[in-house]
Amino acid sequence: MRWVVLLLALIAAGPATAGGDAKRGKTIYAQCAACHTVDPAAPKALGPHLKGIVGRKAGAVEDYVYSPPMRRSAVIWTAETLDAFLVDPQAVVRGTKMPFSGLPTPRDREDLIAFLAGL
Ligand code: HEC
Repeated sequence: MRWVVLLLALIAAGPATAGGDAKRGKTIYAQCAACHTVDPAAPKALGPHLKGIVGRKAGAVEDYVYSPPMRRSAVIWTAETLDAFLVDPQAVVRGTKMPFSGLPTPRDREDLIAFLAGL
């Protein structure tokens, strides 16, 4: 019956990608808040506001001046594309003006995306 215990342990551990912790994600968002807001009505920041970012087309905030590559990008921001972008912004949108070196830890990205998805 040892396999049952092993199976239960695997289920309890869950896959690495199953739903992030939005509460923890909010603390990671502090790194983004230097340049982004989560409120469309907030005073202009260096980057576009991120409210509703999950499910939105890249470069879609009306009154924000994007770089040409971001404006022309066909990327739709999903958990997958955001995850890749947050590892290495330039790898997803070559020439983006977002000056961010990336979040290397998968759990940080997962939790941050859970926070962004809940905005
Ligand atoms: C130093 C400033 C800075 C930091 C820090 C930063 N960003 Fe950005 N971000 C920008 C700028 C500037 C743009 C616009 C890029 C462009 O037009 O090419 C941008 C664009 C984006 C976009 C695309 C938005 C859209 O409407 O298509 C996303 C998503 C994003 N940032 C997420 C994040 C997240 C999440 C973090 C935190 C981990 C973060 N950024 C940290 C400056 C920053």
